[in-house]
Amino acid sequence: METFELLNKKHDELRQGEAYAPFALDANQYKKYFYIESYGCSMNFSDSEIVAAILQGEGYGATQNFQDADLVLLNTCSVREKAEQTVRKRLTEFRKVKESKPGMLIGVLGCMAERLKSKFLEEEKLVDLVVGPDAYRSLPTIVAEAETGQKAINVLLSREETYADISPVRLNSNGVTAFVSIMRGCNNMCSFCVVPFTRGRERSRDINSILKECKELYEQGFKEVTLLGQNVDSYYWINEQTNEPVTFAMLLEQVALISPELRVRFSTSHPKDITDDVLYTIAQYENICNYIHLPVQSGSTRILQLMNRTYTREWYMAKVDRIKEIIPDCAISADVISGFCTETEEDHQDTLSIMEYSQYDFSYMFFYSDRPGTLASKRFVDDIPEEVKKRRLAEVVEMQNKLSAKSNAKDVGKTFKILIEGNSKKSDTDWMGRNSQNKVIVFPKENYNLKKGDYVQVKVNSCTQATLLGEVV
Ligand code: SAM
Ligand code: SF4
Ligand code: F3S
Repeated sequence: METFELLNKKHDELRQGEAYAPFALDANQYKKYFYIESYGCSMNFSDSEIVAAILQGEGYGATQNFQDADLVLLNTCSVREKAEQTVRKRLTEFRKVKESKPGMLIGVLGCMAERLKSKFLEEEKLVDLVVGPDAYRSLPTIVAEAETGQKAINVLLSREETYADISPVRLNSNGVTAFVSIMRGCNNMCSFCVVPFTRGRERSRDINSILKECKELYEQGFKEVTLLGQNVDSYYWINEQTNEPVTFAMLLEQVALISPELRVRFSTSHPKDITDDVLYTIAQYENICNYIHLPVQSGSTRILQLMNRTYTREWYMAKVDRIKEIIPDCAISADVISGFCTETEEDHQDTLSIMEYSQYDFSYMFFYSDRPGTLASKRFVDDIPEEVKKRRLAEVVEMQNKLSAKSNAKDVGKTFKILIEGNSKKSDTDWMGRNSQNKVIVFPKENYNLKKGDYVQVKVNSCTQATLLGEVV
């Protein structure tokens, strides 16, 4: 089993598109080395762990330093134009290093590989190999082709591939929290979104392989799993023994039953699909975290229709009410897009007011980026000037800052069960952990004999906008 230096990155940081690269501790152990950097959503970070497992099976070790690598991989994101620009810039840097190291291969994986396909090899000449999200099993063959100077590409999408039998190599793991992919692809057609084109049709992973992976993680000392999918609530699997369908609520329960010591999170729920069954299951099990990421995108019914989100403003608000009714202390977060095609000031005000109504604990906020090939790009004009998009986004961010500050202030004086994830960013005399609601809490280590992965009761004494500060009780 390969050992990787623990970098202690938090999932939320990763969600923001920050790149990361794994280390190999023993620099002389392998004949060849790969370097992988990931961008985009948690699915991509999880996929990089599958890629690492496939490459490890071929005798590759991981290196943190791309100059030392024989194979440099970028697992890319296409969700917004800026994400693609970042990747292009990075590829140019890699290309420069390759000039003095001709044997080095540079590969593009993930959503941008799928969107641009052979364009990368032909027009841009920035890379040696291109592999889409459903074709990672073919990486060894593609690398071999690239080594002989052939056109090395596989961007075939699959209706079946879930990589169910591959045990991911945990990269940059803190040893406490891990992602577990439960499905791939997306069958929704939100008009702004490139994901259905880059990730293909939705398919669910065999429940037995999910449970096996979660159990193994728990046995290895992990204390939290996040079940991943673009739309987890449409998870669907037929149990071979009983011929009965397994829903997401059932899967959630089965994972929760592995051990009360193993916390369970999930992401992402589409508001149209999250069921009462899921909410009751969360309420029933203490180890299923009281936190739901429920992307709203817009607060205007007219814009939601253009976005093809299939719910109205009122329907979404009723869903928020239902969550709070069944799980009273549930934290809710959202994704918000400002400046979608034809958005008026009134639509924008509707977004601000739905945020206030929902009292989001945090949000991920973006301005609209036209993506070629999407329904919105084909049907509508990207007609909101950039300065208006940015001004509206700033107002959305300001609203969220106000809501987060209010939500944190409400927690002062309360005591929470915290899972310790590691040292705080600022000081190694403080621990950092999260409560069930996914809020970060920092507290002094003092002389308690605590370690990473322990649960501890912490009383919140004060807060900043982003963090709660407390002490062990
Ligand atoms: N599957 C999830 C869902 O349904 O909400 C999220 C998928 S997407 C990878 C993450 C977020 O990126 C979306 O919720 C949306 O807010 C944002 N996003 C997607 N396409 C975008 C675009 N064209 N411009 C700006 N933001 C976009
Ligand atoms: Fe994109 Fe919509 Fe699918 Fe989420 S549900 S990945 S936003 S198409
Ligand atoms: Fe980006 Fe692909 Fe995820 S487009 S957000 S990496 S599914």
